[in-house]
Amino acid sequence: MKLAIGNDHSAVDMKNEIKAHLEQKGIEVIDVGVCTTESCNYPVLGYQVARMVADGAVDGGVLICGTGVGISLAANKVKGIRACVCSEPYTAKLSKMHNNTNIIAFGARVIGVETAKMIVDEWINAEFEGGRHQKRVDMLAEIEQTQDLQAAHEG
Ligand code: RB5
Repeated sequence: MKLAIGNDHSAVDMKNEIKAHLEQKGIEVIDVGVCTTESCNYPVLGYQVARMVADGAVDGGVLICGTGVGISLAANKVKGIRACVCSEPYTAKLSKMHNNTNIIAFGARVIGVETAKMIVDEWINAEFEGGRHQKRVDMLAEIEQTQDLQAAHEG
């Protein structure tokens, strides 16, 4: 598995911890995040990771900023990206199983590093269930592609 990781200035230490955690598991990590606490702009990092995921250069992405909000919002502007910001592992797991998220995000100012490790572990180990969830993920794509939703809402 190959993942991209990105972070802004508020998440350098956590990025380093999570990167090491992933590498210990044998996961290849492409680090496009910043390495200093000098103020920077989270959309740049969110976009860079999202671009790599959308282009198929990596299998998924991890994004970390102060809250995880800004950097995940940036990622979700890229077509094909389903990024989820979460603060606990259950949401991370279900976001893959039901929503087929391809980026997981969290906030270095919100959660501790052990929770962050649990989040990435649950997310990596989970698999998209497909079935009834596929239709709903397809509806997300329809909204993204057409700025409209013609699909039936039932079921
Ligand atoms: C940076 O101060 C902070 O705004 C950023 O890391 C993030 O939390 C934005 O959503």
